[in-house]
Amino acid sequence: MSNFVDIHHHLVYGVDDGARTFEDMQQMILQAVNQQVSDIVCTSHATPRGRSFPMELYLRHLQRAQLWIAQEGLPVRLYPGCEVLYSDHSARQIREGMFPTLAGTSAVLVEFTPDTDFDRMCDAARQIGNLGYSVIFAHVERYQALRNLKHVNTLREDYGVYMQMNTNTVITKKGFFFDRWVRHMLDEGYVDCVASDAHNVTSRVCRMRLCYEMLKERYGREAALDMCGGFQRRLLGLPWPEEY
Ligand SMILES: [Fe+2]
Repeated sequence: MSNFVDIHHHLVYGVDDGARTFEDMQQMILQAVNQQVSDIVCTSHATPRGRSFPMELYLRHLQRAQLWIAQEGLPVRLYPGCEVLYSDHSARQIREGMFPTLAGTSAVLVEFTPDTDFDRMCDAARQIGNLGYSVIFAHVERYQALRNLKHVNTLREDYGVYMQMNTNTVITKKGFFFDRWVRHMLDEGYVDCVASDAHNVTSRVCRMRLCYEMLKERYGREAALDMCGGFQRRLLGLPWPEEY
């Protein structure tokens, strides 16, 4: 049963530090299928430094992936998107259509440098949110400012920010929820969704199925399904599988 939705995945080749070649991309897609992922939002990095987002190249390589999936008859759908590294220009760039939003909706995936302070995160949520976009913070476990759960709560309640945690943070080598903060985030229901943030098939891989099993063990099937696909389908209006 393929049910999971991965909204943070760097499989489009030749655009960022994810897949480098068409073959890399094929391997990453196959691995996601193996992990029971049925829908992937392909979120290449959009950074404020250097050249602007290579939209034409990105869309061409995404289309190549979609064609290959159709030829192979693989049970997975790909959607456009990107991961915006927040800067003072991000809100304007999003408004001007310089970046692809998640699956063509008004949702955007936003990341920060790890030392970004809380006030700047609030500014980002306000600026982008005021333009009518839903804001999802990528890999929330990376930010020092969010170690304070009051900050997390404020961003969620006052600014409507959604929180995405990486699957590899849930799956640790040292045991389930090795990090106490990670456990608190999940126990409090502050994690809206998990995603792989996959960059390759060796070190930063897609492990959605394993993450789902671990979440199910602690929080039950319904909550685990919601973090691994339900939330994402509601937010992005994606089709629901027959069995769910
Ligand atoms: Fe990422």
